[in-house]
Amino acid sequence: MSFLTDIKTIRSRARKEINEGAVTPDYALDTDTVCKILNEALATEIVCVLRYKFHYFMASGIHKEGVASHFLEHANEEQGHADQIAERIKQLGGKPEMNPEVIAKRSHSEYVEGDSIIDMIKENLVAERIAIQTYREIVKFFGDKDPTSRVMMEGILAMEEEHADDMADLLFAVNPTTEEVTRILSPDEEAAVGKAVRVENAPKAQKKPKKVKAKSARA
Ligand SMILES: [Fe+2]
Ligand SMILES: [Fe+2]
Repeated sequence: MSFLTDIKTIRSRARKEINEGAVTPDYALDTDTVCKILNEALATEIVCVLRYKFHYFMASGIHKEGVASHFLEHANEEQGHADQIAERIKQLGGKPEMNPEVIAKRSHSEYVEGDSIIDMIKENLVAERIAIQTYREIVKFFGDKDPTSRVMMEGILAMEEEHADDMADLLFAVNPTTEEVTRILSPDEEAAVGKAVRVENAPKAQKKPKKVKAKSARA
């Protein structure tokens, strides 16, 4: 005997309600509410793409290797998140909101240009921290009622945490006085060196209380 309660009814309904696409009668949430929540996450991702892209182009002078490459990598990953979320909204019968006027109002995080390389890194860190908190709430909201959306948002959340960690590390690699990249983080260094060692090796100017505060804000 199948563990499914009534496979005949399930098969019959699946045929009759094919215009509902992926949304079956047992879907436990209100799809309008879900699409509204996902559209806010989509707006957040699009704003993040634009901000990281702007930072990439504006930092592409002397900071090209050390900082701008991180901005570009994040911009591309945020675009990937936006695509995933838009696809899910469409699966649920909704419309991914791409209207720029609406996006600016719905985004959880803000579009802030920043006046310096340090400002840019800080603004990105703030935006990532906002995304982490709101996405964690969204994950809880989905719970076991929509595992597909929950798993998608959990994956995105994990990546936002990596982004926030990257930005926090960059604060230690940029001299706060001269704004020059004093220590370029190579891929090998990223993989092999722990944070304690990085702080130990950082130039003295990076051990000021201001920097420690920025790092401890990640807790
Ligand atoms: Fe993202
Ligand atoms: Fe991010």
